[in-house]
Amino acid sequence: MSAVIIDGKAVAGGVREQIAQDVARMRDAGEAPPLLAVVLCNDNPASAIYVRNKERAAERAGMSFRLHTPPLDSSTESLVQLVHAINSDPGVDGMLVQLPLPAQVDAEAVGDAIAPEKDADGFHPLNFGHLAEGRGATVVPGTPLGCMELLRAYDIPVGGARAVVIGRSVIVGRPMATLLLNADATVTVCHSRTRDLAAVCREADILISAMGRPRMVDAGFVKPGAAVIDVGTTPEDGTVAGDVDRASVEPVAGWLSPVPGGVGPMTVAMLLRNTLALAAARRSAVAAPG
Ligand code: GUN
Repeated sequence: MSAVIIDGKAVAGGVREQIAQDVARMRDAGEAPPLLAVVLCNDNPASAIYVRNKERAAERAGMSFRLHTPPLDSSTESLVQLVHAINSDPGVDGMLVQLPLPAQVDAEAVGDAIAPEKDADGFHPLNFGHLAEGRGATVVPGTPLGCMELLRAYDIPVGGARAVVIGRSVIVGRPMATLLLNADATVTVCHSRTRDLAAVCREADILISAMGRPRMVDAGFVKPGAAVIDVGTTPEDGTVAGDVDRASVEPVAGWLSPVPGGVGPMTVAMLLRNTLALAAARRSAVAAPG
């Protein structure tokens, strides 16, 4: 047996096409297209690439995009002020502050300043809290939401499945575990202190790895037939390395979402979906009588 290789680029292409059609309908109805604002305050080459990808994807979907690049020596207060200015700009539908921020900046204070109704990343505590409560959330962090879409696109059963998530970050691990739980999986979250990681992972029908340790997940971590989603993104030799040792895992797994070409393209597509959802919610709030 050899794993079905999950084609994130193809699934993301379908999602982006749908979003472009929705944006075109907004324009046809005489509405402004959704506007995504991004704050980039770091000199990390990977962040520059991610932000460029977000800009291109937004523009290809017919959305507007605005980039803010405050100086690298910005203070927490000046970034909070910038976020407040974007919050009160009626033309902006969604925003995100690209992470990481410089060491002198309190990233939590900046993130908390984002208005929840403009939070395109879904990281704000209010939106995160809605997700944790299992309420229908308008926005959900893009990478874990992209993993859920891949599972859906390939008809991989989630309800009642045993799911193991490696990593407990706010960007991936925690919202990933919550989404799987909300979809009725039985979820285990592993981290740096987990004992006998491989044995825990071998229990999984769905294994999601967001650890950042290249090729650490080999066949010894994988139950035969399991769905393995690689969310590792470690820069290596001018490309990006995943957590999964593909040559070892491919003969054992039932499905494998590889790096690159798996979850990566979905993250940007889900950001566009969040931006569209925020724009639609803001427009209907403006249009509502009273
Ligand atoms: N840095 C790495 N991933 C992300 C992301 O999804 N959003 C933001 N804002 N920064 C990131």
